[in-house]
Amino acid sequence: MNRVHIKTYGCQMNERDSEAVAAMLRARGYRIVASEDECDVLLLNTCSVRDAAEQKAIGKAGYSAARKRRNPDFILGILGCMAQNRGATLLDRLPDVDLIVGTQKFHRVPDYLDNLRAAREAGIPLGETIVDTAAEAGSQSTIRDHLDGPDTQVCAFVSIQQGCNMNCAFCIVPTTRGDERSRPMDDIVRECEGLVARGTREVTLLGQIVTSYGRRDYAHAAGVSPFVQLLERVHAIPGLERIRFTSPHPRGFREDLAGAFGRLPKLGEYVHLPVQSGSDRILRAMKRPYTRARYLEIVDSLRAAQPAMAFSTDIIVGFPGETEADFEETRSLCEAVDYDMAYIFKYSVRSGTPAAAMPGQVPDQVKEERNRVLLELLRAGSLRRTQALVGTVQEVLVEGPDKTGLRFTGRTRGNRVAVFDAAPRLAGSLVPVEITRASVSTLYGDLVLADAGLQTALAAAPL
Ligand code: 5AD
Repeated sequence: MNRVHIKTYGCQMNERDSEAVAAMLRARGYRIVASEDECDVLLLNTCSVRDAAEQKAIGKAGYSAARKRRNPDFILGILGCMAQNRGATLLDRLPDVDLIVGTQKFHRVPDYLDNLRAAREAGIPLGETIVDTAAEAGSQSTIRDHLDGPDTQVCAFVSIQQGCNMNCAFCIVPTTRGDERSRPMDDIVRECEGLVARGTREVTLLGQIVTSYGRRDYAHAAGVSPFVQLLERVHAIPGLERIRFTSPHPRGFREDLAGAFGRLPKLGEYVHLPVQSGSDRILRAMKRPYTRARYLEIVDSLRAAQPAMAFSTDIIVGFPGETEADFEETRSLCEAVDYDMAYIFKYSVRSGTPAAAMPGQVPDQVKEERNRVLLELLRAGSLRRTQALVGTVQEVLVEGPDKTGLRFTGRTRGNRVAVFDAAPRLAGSLVPVEITRASVSTLYGDLVLADAGLQTALAAAPL
């Protein structure tokens, strides 16, 4: 009765939320199982950003609900963004769901499961579904627990803020995640220190709009934003090797943040910088408060701070009113920036958002074609960029065995996945890897052994 499987859809914040729920459940005596077939409790942590993500989770929930017929004790819960977005209306489609818990109530999941199980054990007939999607003050601080397993988490996620007040015309996130709220800086730093003490070497600071971190709670200090102040404090933690963050907003990239990439080596040479569109007309319609020219200026400022800077982005194709000329602006912007990677999304109508009611909705096959054009462009660009690394030596943070279990995997400072032979004891270390081969998204190489380096140095030394 106590075996829980959590299936996560969507972004890294959702993964982090699932991880924290798992840690809280373990502390309560539940067992987290990797196999869905073996669980007594199935929790779906859902995503609402596009209709396809919601449909996937609804399909899964419908299918899983059939298990109740075989096993009346089976518990099915829907957590997170879709729970928040749709609440009790989910029951129209999914009457058998036991638990619907929104994005500010993850910490309540253990209590709700305890209640459901106690009722089952007492033989009390199934009551009403538990639905909790209320707002809760301070909920940004409730995701603190990390799984304390036998393996160290070389790379860990740390939540720093939640919610977003930007109101981009296409986006459901202000509804699913609520108003912007930030965690206290001291708590975040303490959490990072604790992780490092347990072997973590890289933290990814997470939030819906991390660049707005602490803007209501902390003052700028000598032109330095609260977010950059936080980066500085995390950077000062001894033993931590790398800091990443996602998702930022372009408007947060003023001089202080661009400068931080020059000053703070643990930030590496990688930024995810969501652009959404390369057309000023569409950016305005999307309510994105920057222009194409400003975006390119930010890219330039980051490459000025770190010439090897690699970028990834989010792009929406087929936003209402997007013409061929607008799309061409997006295409040419992709060429200009030379991204390492991009998530391309076909615009998906989100009911309740301003763009849903806009005229000029773009037909599916046009979205499909624009998606294809960009994917091809980005694939070619990515391959060119990985190929350019062949023959170089990259600093790699070793994460652990790769999918095959035979080789090791890690990431470069520019956030490329590298695969190489190594020894298990190297997990968590920074090692030099000489790149010998590259696919579109993966680098393959050999560890540069200290001895070999020494030999090369000796060979090169004059007699
Ligand atoms: N349709 C398609 N893509 C969307 N995104 C957000 N809302 C929508 C939507 N309605 C994309 C944006 C955002 C990413 C997380 O999801 O590109 O940056």
